[in-house]
Amino acid sequence: MSTVRNVTFSFRDGKATSVAVQQGESVLDAALAAGIPVIHQCRSGSCSSCVAKLVEGRAGMRAGASSTLLRSEVDAGERLLCLTEPETDCTFALNYVSDAGTVKAVKAHAFVDSVEQVASNVVRLKLELAEGAWLDFKPGQFIQVRVPGTDVMRSYSPASTAADLPRIELLVRLLEDGVMSTWLRERAQPDDVLEIEGPFGNFFLREKVSAPHIMVAGGTGLAPILSMIDTLRRAPGRKPPILLSFGCATPDQLFCMDDIALRKHWLPMLAARVSVDRDASGDLLAGNPVDAIREGDVAHPDAVAYLCGPPRMIEAATLRLTHLGLRPENIYAEQFAPSN
Ligand code: FES
Repeated sequence: MSTVRNVTFSFRDGKATSVAVQQGESVLDAALAAGIPVIHQCRSGSCSSCVAKLVEGRAGMRAGASSTLLRSEVDAGERLLCLTEPETDCTFALNYVSDAGTVKAVKAHAFVDSVEQVASNVVRLKLELAEGAWLDFKPGQFIQVRVPGTDVMRSYSPASTAADLPRIELLVRLLEDGVMSTWLRERAQPDDVLEIEGPFGNFFLREKVSAPHIMVAGGTGLAPILSMIDTLRRAPGRKPPILLSFGCATPDQLFCMDDIALRKHWLPMLAARVSVDRDASGDLLAGNPVDAIREGDVAHPDAVAYLCGPPRMIEAATLRLTHLGLRPENIYAEQFAPSN
């Protein structure tokens, strides 16, 4: 006889809804079949979009399933709902409000406006949506781009905002043998047409929060953070204090320094610390962007943090910020892992 478990989803705005999950069914599949707006994308454990926190009951990952979650995140109760099967009735907390997942991803075409190498290993790719095409996104969410002439899709979080549409700006890390990197280096031209799809992901700015914002970015993890800063800049009313801690391995890998300086000029409440692991000089701090976070940065009880970068940076930043007193539920993170 198959077992049915009752699974409840608790959203950040206090709304909750339940669904019956059949034996062998993933929590995500059951939620989507019931029309519950759980944010998701790959449905295979690789994008982290469907992450939720198990707050009651027991639920494990499918046998043999791999996942992008860190061991410490699983130990803290986090689960990828697309890989999760309930072992008892259980409740998952979703770190977004109940209507956040109602925007559906769409496919669109975009033209290449320009391709500019802005650091030794980073390209700024400017796109413009084709006439009649549209897609919306929250600052921090990602879109997928098909590498022309292939079936390969790559995920990028725009550095621009929805207010900049139809223009979209991406920051792409160049990898030696990456499929997108090779196309950008060897073939990309203005007016090339790209297939894109989005928005995806549950890493996005929670707006109308007046407490200080701590933003930690490693490498091209800066892109969604710039989108968030620009959204805060354009929002009406008083701006929260913002600390941006951005880092790369070496000075030649830094990029968007003028963009950061301009935003500091526009937003007096924005402080920026820029770090490099090696060869620091002048105003650059030696170390990584987590080392640059100081004790007094987390003085406010309701401070929020947005982290975007490699998995090890996310883990270290989460540890450091919680150690300094930041509430774990106020930390939002997105891992950027390179794909070849
Ligand atoms: S939907 Fe991508 S990890 Fe679950």
